[in-house]
Amino acid sequence: MTGKTKKVRKAVLPVAGLGTRFLPATKAIPKEMLTVVDKPLIQYAVEECIASGIEHVIFVTGRRKNAIEDHFDLAPELESFLEQHGKHDAARMVHEISGGLRISYTRQSEALGLGHAVLCAAELVGDEPFAVLLGDVIMDGPVPATRELIEICEETGAGAIHVERVPRERVHLYGIVDAAPEKNSRWGDRLLRVKNLVEKPSAEKAPSNLGVTGRYVLPPEIFDYLATTKPGTGGEIQLTDGLCRLAEANKLFACIYEGKTYDAGDKLGFLEATVEMALKNPKLGKDFRTYLRGLNL
Ligand code: UTP
Repeated sequence: MTGKTKKVRKAVLPVAGLGTRFLPATKAIPKEMLTVVDKPLIQYAVEECIASGIEHVIFVTGRRKNAIEDHFDLAPELESFLEQHGKHDAARMVHEISGGLRISYTRQSEALGLGHAVLCAAELVGDEPFAVLLGDVIMDGPVPATRELIEICEETGAGAIHVERVPRERVHLYGIVDAAPEKNSRWGDRLLRVKNLVEKPSAEKAPSNLGVTGRYVLPPEIFDYLATTKPGTGGEIQLTDGLCRLAEANKLFACIYEGKTYDAGDKLGFLEATVEMALKNPKLGKDFRTYLRGLNL
């Protein structure tokens, strides 16, 4: 493997979905603004971008998603109120929410699938590799998930996605990869070369139990593949179809993620994320653990 690709500077965060798994909470509030402990879900993804060296975040938004734009905008009235009341730490926290990132917004007028949402960002991304982060997925591990994928992409020149082992009875909820270990890589047994992907297969038809988590670093060719992908069930354009074309061209790696993935767009996944992130929180963790122990479950 040799280093041969452009630097990854941009990340696309598609946030235009309808969030039907989380109704009624998501009827008027974007799913990505649901709060885990003290931050909206989308802020976890933006912080991962900052920790991964991303310079420019592109949100693909839709109707009813204004709260996301407001969250990452400056709030001068709030900041001066906090300053006047001596709450300097809170004022700084509000001021630094987007961590100096450049932020752009584009619209997906109709929720026509994740692949379609990514395609909506094509002009803003241009001809360079870029990251995609699902805003309802929290990745918590020893290194920022997106940074690891950027390193793989920059070293190999190919796309890279994170996968995790999922129980057989849950493979029908994931994109599942058919992949073989890549020899002599610095990621050891965790790096696999993807031969194919299957979207939400039955347990019998699944080529493995390695499910796609929601973090991707992709070369710009993916836009050509998505632009020529025919809509599937429900008129949606799936990102998986574009990934299959990358895999056919021998340009896609999967990396088994070393940390924990929370699908917080799902009610149970959201509860797991809330409990585990609260237990890890430096200010709340100790008291919360005492509270949970007291429940005598
Ligand atoms: P999901 O499939 O989890 O989101 O897509 P959804 O469609 O909103 O959720 P459910 O299944 O109905 O509950 C993952 C991410 O991709 C975005 C979503 O906003 C979410 O952050 N997405 C999905 C789009 O931006 N556009 C789409 O057409 C579909």
